Amino acid sequence: MPGIVVVGSIHTDLVITTERLPTPGETRIGGEFHTFPGGKGANQAVAAARLGGEVWMVGRVGADLYGRFQRESLGAAGVHTDFVTTDADAASGVALIMVERGGNNTIVVAPGASGRCAPEDVDRAAAVIAGADALLLQLEIPLETVEYAARLAAQHGVRVILDPAPAQPLPPALLEMVHLVTPNETEAALLCGFDPGERHEPAELAARIQQRVRGPVLITLGAQGVLAMVDGQTLQVPAVPVEAVDATAAGDTFSGALAVALTEGRNLADAIRWANHAAALAVTRLGAQSAVPTRREVDDFAGSSC
Ligand code: RIB
Repeated sequence: MPGIVVVGSIHTDLVITTERLPTPGETRIGGEFHTFPGGKGANQAVAAARLGGEVWMVGRVGADLYGRFQRESLGAAGVHTDFVTTDADAASGVALIMVERGGNNTIVVAPGASGRCAPEDVDRAAAVIAGADALLLQLEIPLETVEYAARLAAQHGVRVILDPAPAQPLPPALLEMVHLVTPNETEAALLCGFDPGERHEPAELAARIQQRVRGPVLITLGAQGVLAMVDGQTLQVPAVPVEAVDATAAGDTFSGALAVALTEGRNLADAIRWANHAAALAVTRLGAQSAVPTRREVDDFAGSSC
């Protein structure tokens, strides 16, 4: 079983479904309200655990109801929570999410305790990080902590997989420690120093980013699949068509699945294809961790669509 450590955010998602997303200033009557466990880091951890990894989560929750809810969800998925700290001085992280028919969403995060995840939290998990097969990172905790964790992993030769979301420019020193990066087009544009509104070919973005990281660059293109660049060669892996209900956590499921597949020794093309199936299943369900499929579901789905 591959050992995977996730350092990142842990949130509770407060979700309202709606026929269509409101425009600024507009009030809409929506559909159902749900409370789901979420957070990009915690979602990745749940995905990696459900899909076959032995997973440790490093992060912070508040000493409140949501913190207990988040910890329980991680535990129920089999994620080790020994390095999830309860921070008495902050509320648990929360995300307000609206999901429209067809699956598109908007998300605003109040990071709370996740915003206080610090290098000391990483230090406490140093031994498991040093012995892990992969470290998964995203950008909903302080950048200083992300860099610190990447450095520790890199020092021990541990594969570092970064989902650079939410989009922001990143220091070159961080990217140099990353073995695989999975931006969407907006995130990729920002990593290249472009205005996120500027249109650039994904292959051009990937080629530029590849000069700054240690290994493959995977640009995630939603319904268009994934464009991977490895050693200057491009590889296009199509998405798996499904009826979309909610895109929340599709990217997190993709990252968790990719980490499991690669650390089990699959080649990159196979790993992306399998992770695409995992993400596609997640898109057919409402919520974040509630939408992450099991290994059997992904294997059956990937097998049946060959
Ligand atoms: O990637 C989806 C996640 O982003 C949600 O679960 C929400 O908590 C935000 O962090």
